[in-house]
Amino acid sequence: MTEMIGKVSRVLGPVVHAKGVAHAQMLELVEVGKDRLIGEIVRLRGNNIIVQVYEDTTGLAAGAPVYGSGMPLSVELGPGLMGSIYDGVQRPLEAIKKVTKQYIRKGVKIEPLDRKQKWSFHPQVKTGDTVKPGDILGSVQETQSILHHVLVPPNMSGKVEKIVKEGEYHVDDEICILKDGAYQHKMTLFHRWPVRQARPLKNRLQSDIPLITGQRVIDTLFPVTRGGTVVVPGGFGTGKTLIEHQLAKWSDADVVVYIGCGERGNEITNVLNEFPKLSDPRTNRPLMERTILIANTSNMPVAAREASIYTGITISEYYRDQGYHVAIMADSTSRWAEALRELSGRMEEMPAEEGFPAYLPTRLAEFYERGGYGETLGGKKGSITIIGAVSPPGGDFSEPVTQHTKRFVRAFWALDRDLANARHYPAISWLDSYSEYTEDVISWWHEHGDPEWISYRSEILDLLQREERLQQVVKLVGADVLPDSQKLILEVCTLFKNTFLQQSAFDKIDMYSTVQKQVKMLKIIITFYRMGAEALKKGATLIKIKRLKIVNEITRMKLSVSNDEVEKLDELQSRLEREMTRLGEIYANF
Ligand SMILES: Nc1ncnc2c1ncn2[C@@H]1O[C@H](COP(=O)(O)OP(=O)(O)O)[C@@H](O)[C@H]1O
Ligand SMILES: [Mg+2]
Repeated sequence: MTEMIGKVSRVLGPVVHAKGVAHAQMLELVEVGKDRLIGEIVRLRGNNIIVQVYEDTTGLAAGAPVYGSGMPLSVELGPGLMGSIYDGVQRPLEAIKKVTKQYIRKGVKIEPLDRKQKWSFHPQVKTGDTVKPGDILGSVQETQSILHHVLVPPNMSGKVEKIVKEGEYHVDDEICILKDGAYQHKMTLFHRWPVRQARPLKNRLQSDIPLITGQRVIDTLFPVTRGGTVVVPGGFGTGKTLIEHQLAKWSDADVVVYIGCGERGNEITNVLNEFPKLSDPRTNRPLMERTILIANTSNMPVAAREASIYTGITISEYYRDQGYHVAIMADSTSRWAEALRELSGRMEEMPAEEGFPAYLPTRLAEFYERGGYGETLGGKKGSITIIGAVSPPGGDFSEPVTQHTKRFVRAFWALDRDLANARHYPAISWLDSYSEYTEDVISWWHEHGDPEWISYRSEILDLLQREERLQQVVKLVGADVLPDSQKLILEVCTLFKNTFLQQSAFDKIDMYSTVQKQVKMLKIIITFYRMGAEALKKGATLIKIKRLKIVNEITRMKLSVSNDEVEKLDELQSRLEREMTRLGEIYANF
């Protein structure tokens, strides 16, 4: 980047105007001023441009030079991404900290992928082979769990003219030359890709495999498929961040991309301190071996926050293209939308709803459309599941970011203030939340959980809705007037909320529930209801049912039965059935 293309005429925070510009392109990456702050051309009119700058522009003044790069804002995609911690424009935060003793210093340029590290590359093509986009040139064992496929980028193909032997290479060593007609493509272990351009899939496919999160209220009541899209709206302190963390830790994605977007610095610091110490429950390997963190806290430049979700989704697409199942969490997309609003305001654009730019819905749609399940160019199956948190001001879901996002996602995990106040966590409302993926995952649960899963699930949701109506009656006239059959519904719902829906993120046993544990717990609660209702019909009383000793055990089962001893739940199930049968028989004999 050396060519000067124009001069700064006006500086409005992160928005910089320049005049007299020749040879610039829309969305071109530029450098501004003597510190060479990086930015992106977001408007181009004649010889005037507007640049959004990703760094602090204090001290920048009219007359400063603007340098062009001839290419759009891009990320580096190659071995070494895994376990990295980046800012919104892929600057490696740890490496920057080492150099500057703080996270961000203006104009510091450090390559996203370490140029000194060597990777053991195994070629999988030979000279003379013809390769097309998405084909595998070779592989690198990036971490124990991630075999990194070095792919022909989506926009390239040709005949292999040269391929290196198996050996150790730097990310920027030439490993292959492709001949494409008159062109020669020189390839390294990494390539660059513009963040605002979705990487193509060959085919989009319908997904019927759930992303298992280990969180009971999610997996059982409001499931999301691999490749699905979800929004988690909730006011301050309702547990958005904790849910995103739980998913980043426990969901069964191959790769997790976590974007901390505009949240307080200490929360991100928690993530940075905590995640590297955690291990994956399935592989027992450090969680960071499958995780990439992107952090743009509220005190970092606002434009980089705007870019962060594109950086995150592009990296996600890159692993999806290798045939992996990726889950991406963005906390919070409201802060991203606020960045959009601030930048738009500084550009003096006409505001729409609540000051957000008119293109807010389009931008949201474009982001969520980059999720999905499909066949990659190379013929593998991969997916990106997107879970976006939204923090509506005052917890009011009618605001634009929540409402527009709702149109573009198929699952809605609504966090409820009252539940959070009552310390019922996760505070996901069972009445306001929904998932349009439930139908899609029935056969998976039939096979891997329990053939009856869908009927248990429908039955408990139905009970929760009946409970809601009964509670209205109770409010008016008290519970005493209700017959035992209806009181039983209240009992069962309380039991279900306390023992199933509430799940502690801090208890070693409870923080994660396997599919088997979830479905067995659900079955026990449903059995309790069904057989309880039968016993009542035969003449038993609710008091008798509530006094069964087994009720205590059911209440404690989430904490007393760990994931690797779920057979204890089968035993609990049979004892429950026996005790309930006996209770029914006592009365049947009268
Ligand atoms: N599953 C959970 N288990 C236990 N505590 C929780 C859980 N979810 C949330 N909390 C509590 O709620 C607090 C606020 O949650 P947080 O995720 O920071 O809210 P938000 O991001 O919506 O502002 C947490 O610090 C924690 O004490
Ligand atoms: Mg939060």
